[in-house]
Amino acid sequence: MTLTFQAPKGLSGQIVPPPDKSITHRALMVAGIAEGSSHVHNPLDTGDCISTRRCLESLGVSFAEERDGDSQSSLKIEGRGTRGFQEPADIIDAGNSGTTTRLLAGLLAGQRLFAVLTGDDSVRSRPMLRVVRPLRLMGADIKGRQGGRYLPLVFSSGAGNLQPIEYQLPVPSAQVKSALIFAGLRAEGKVRIGGAIHSRDHTERLFEFLGLPLAREGQWLIVEPIDRISPFELTVPGDISSAAFFITAALICGQELRVDRCGLNPSRLGFIEVIRRMGARLELEEGEPTGGEPWGALHVLPGPLHGTEVTPDEIPSLIDEIPLLAVLGVFAEGTTRVRGAGELRHKESDRLAAVANLLGSVGGTVELTEDGFFLDGPQALRSGLVDPAGDHRIAMAAAVLGAGVRDGVAVSGFEAAQVSFPDFVGVYRSLGGEVS
Ligand code: S3P
Repeated sequence: MTLTFQAPKGLSGQIVPPPDKSITHRALMVAGIAEGSSHVHNPLDTGDCISTRRCLESLGVSFAEERDGDSQSSLKIEGRGTRGFQEPADIIDAGNSGTTTRLLAGLLAGQRLFAVLTGDDSVRSRPMLRVVRPLRLMGADIKGRQGGRYLPLVFSSGAGNLQPIEYQLPVPSAQVKSALIFAGLRAEGKVRIGGAIHSRDHTERLFEFLGLPLAREGQWLIVEPIDRISPFELTVPGDISSAAFFITAALICGQELRVDRCGLNPSRLGFIEVIRRMGARLELEEGEPTGGEPWGALHVLPGPLHGTEVTPDEIPSLIDEIPLLAVLGVFAEGTTRVRGAGELRHKESDRLAAVANLLGSVGGTVELTEDGFFLDGPQALRSGLVDPAGDHRIAMAAAVLGAGVRDGVAVSGFEAAQVSFPDFVGVYRSLGGEVS
């Protein structure tokens, strides 16, 4: 489906972003290993999170859809306990979702069952050794393509338990960190996770909310085994990474935007910090936390944009928003530079190459480096056709770019946006944009 996005009068108004993808994955998985019925309100019920649900269903976890009084959707999840998954009758398909594969690997490792985990073309080309290696050190028998570098991964039946380890994370990946935390619940002693642990901390917050044995000691996260997780109830906040598309659109149009019911977890606020440096004015109103996660409203006020430098230590807190910083950079005065973002080459697509393709398709220029890019603005863009190669965040970044180009931007394969933002087109229109 090719759609053309433009906004002759700009994009402004008020949005409620779709539910947070990362938090939904974690809530569904932990509910799946709890004992009894958990209730997850406002889950993301599209794309990647449907993949997580399907995978858990094939392991014997059951889900029922419910409607709350305020017509918010909910899932009732019957968990199987930390050792209670049933052996799946067929391969487990994680679709396009890297988070599903890595986190689920932590839950499957060492279980008394045989399972084969795979995904679509994109996920099958993403690195898995980062999670397979430490799980093998814990005693899990995992085989896979090219020695476990790539899916499919095969989990052989284990003893139900894993060995304790001390492991230094080489890359700041919340997915790998979370897989090890999950695996630690079934270890025969403490699992100590050190190194690059400064990434989004939704798993840590969920564990704290549920009273599960995870402690932070200096530079270490320490997980202790547990036999039983009680069922729980929580509400998922809106996804700040999804809100970021419309925040970007409003800024390049010089308009105001209010974002309600949005997750405000500090480990996800790097984008907000950087756009403040670029000249945006933002007011945050924080409410009561939900499921251990801060959330609230964001009021975005435009200002003249200027370039900035994003440093390697900032990358984990804005990893999914980097293509949007390139879009903003095109409309900003001076140089915008991103360093230390080599991880972008291993996302749903090579997102550094995708940024060059995105801007090149509308007459813009960006210099790529090994682990980032730099570009000078403002640049004169023309309308064009962007092929996001199936990557949801690139498709939506291209649509946002359309709001700043007079005759708009056409995006092929826009259905990719379903992975994280089911009603992107509806929201674009509700803010005054045109989609044809
Ligand atoms: C995620 C972590 C990040 C992020 C992804 C979601 C998560 O990936 O890019 O969209 O939910 O843990 P990495 O852990 O590979 O950095």
